Amino acid sequence: MTGENGAGKTSLLEAVHVGTQGFSPRTRSDARLIRDGEEAASVQLNLTRAGVRHRVRVKLASGAGKVAELDGTRLPSAESLRREFPTLVFTPDRLAVVKGGPAVRRAYLDRSLTRLFPARSGLPQDYAAALAQRNAGLRRVQLGLSPREVVTPWTERVAALGAGLVEARRDAAAALEPGFCNHLARFGLPGGRLSYEGDPPTVEALEARLETDVSRGTTGLGPHLDDLVLAAGRELRGSARRGSSVLPCWRSSWRRPSCFLRRRSCCSTTCFRSSTFVAARRWRGHSRGSGRR
Ligand SMILES: Nc1ncnc2c1ncn2[C@@H]1O[C@H](COP(=O)(O)OP(=O)(O)OP(=O)(O)O)[C@@H](O)[C@H]1O
Ligand SMILES: [Mg+2]
Repeated sequence: MTGENGAGKTSLLEAVHVGTQGFSPRTRSDARLIRDGEEAASVQLNLTRAGVRHRVRVKLASGAGKVAELDGTRLPSAESLRREFPTLVFTPDRLAVVKGGPAVRRAYLDRSLTRLFPARSGLPQDYAAALAQRNAGLRRVQLGLSPREVVTPWTERVAALGAGLVEARRDAAAALEPGFCNHLARFGLPGGRLSYEGDPPTVEALEARLETDVSRGTTGLGPHLDDLVLAAGRELRGSARRGSSVLPCWRSSWRRPSCFLRRRSCCSTTCFRSSTFVAARRWRGHSRGSGRR
């Protein structure tokens, strides 16, 4: 998809995302999805899944909640579309997954795992909630407002949910690794590796560092501190510059469409390649002075 700046390319991708996921990848504010000066907006998609046609409609109105319909039936929430039509957006800012800190990679891996394993999609939030409770307990102990025992139930919950999250992240990394390595190999980069670095937290390990955690007021062990290693021989983090390690992937992905994230079939995941096309063209210098992207 090509067009002048401001023609609406990103808006179209955004509409597909809203229609398949129930929210925008560009903004958290639904109001910004409505045309300035208008009161309402809607997205309608005609989709084919496993040979069956479906119609999705998402309606937005100022000051009112979103309404999503699948084949004419209202869904409990627009976000429940996520379980119906897995979609993963990859825009230039996602380069931060390679270049940025571990938190960006963890968040991206968690988003991927929710698409890959919908039954385990609640784990990241459940773990984060338990961790927040444990940290709050640690701070109360630190201030002398509560005894140490107040932390114990949350230690157990953090250990249980943390172990589940580590397992889910490992499974997600294992599912992604073959596609990642295949793409790297096509660009002449052997030694691809996409692996999760982190061990399941245990009650014993958490208890062993209780004093340290109390003095710091935060939990210093668990999957909230783990990382995802992306390597082609060596780690890509330090070498992911535009035009070198990452650009060839993107260039190739618009020339020869194929899903980076494969599950059962290519159709189960939608890749937004247009943005990668835009980025590749721009970085190759084609857009300079032409006014087109
Ligand atoms: N809520 C809104 N109401 C009215 N116009 C909007 C709204 N949101 C975005 N626009 C405008 O819609 C137009 C299309 O924007 P969009 O970002 O989709 O274009 P694009 O083709 O991706 O441009 P670029 O090539 O610069 O990335 C822009 O002029 C933008 O300012
Ligand atoms: Mg755009």
